Amino acid sequence: MQLSQDVKTVNLKYFDEKTENILSELEKTKEQFWNLDRQSANFLNSLIKINNSKNVLEIGTSNGYSGIWILKALIETKGRLTTIEYWEKRQRIARSYFEALFDCDIVTPKIGSAIVVMEDLEKEIQNKKRELFDFVFIDANKKEYLDYFKLVDRILKPKGIILADNILSHYEKVLPYVNSLFENENYQSQILPLGAGMMLSYKEK
Ligand SMILES: C[S@@+](CC[C@H](N)C(=O)[O-])C[C@H]1O[C@@H](n2cnc3c(N)ncnc32)[C@H](O)[C@@H]1O
Repeated sequence: MQLSQDVKTVNLKYFDEKTENILSELEKTKEQFWNLDRQSANFLNSLIKINNSKNVLEIGTSNGYSGIWILKALIETKGRLTTIEYWEKRQRIARSYFEALFDCDIVTPKIGSAIVVMEDLEKEIQNKKRELFDFVFIDANKKEYLDYFKLVDRILKPKGIILADNILSHYEKVLPYVNSLFENENYQSQILPLGAGMMLSYKEK
């Protein structure tokens, strides 16, 4: 028996009407804003809840589509999201959706280049102004994934999780990242054939 696409997607609508309306609206322009597909977003949301993650970093906010799914999970875990985007217009759009749906104290949108912002976050952590992250979602410039990882590794807790998107759709560009994670003995990694291909990595210690 084959599982139809309808069954796979229709039953994934389970948020309140206001959230669903905004998500449906955003899904109309998902190619323009390079958003996750609904199944990958649903997986991301579940994973945060399963792991009881409370301090999430997203690299690549775009217009906030995946951020909404992350924040929906964080309401349940009582956590917070920090999300990075260097395109001001996109960040502005994302902020407007976050403000429409969530308390502003659970989300911190950061404007700027991911590497620079993460270097600042690392300094804040060193100065005890913020805690290490327990979950990082990587979804920005595919050629920079390995550079992101070098910083993410310094600001991620032991037993933390990294989820990276576009692993199969942009395989050649992300190959240095993929190889580096598979070679790293402190990480247990797996590529999942979900949406554009996601790589799940668990930091041992
Ligand atoms: C694939 S989209 C993110 C989609 C979003 N996660 C979602 O599913 O709704 C990638 C975003 O990362 C941003 N970006 C790319 N390189 C970046 C960098 N070096 N620093 C910050 N943002 C970056 C792009 O402007 C783009 O909006």
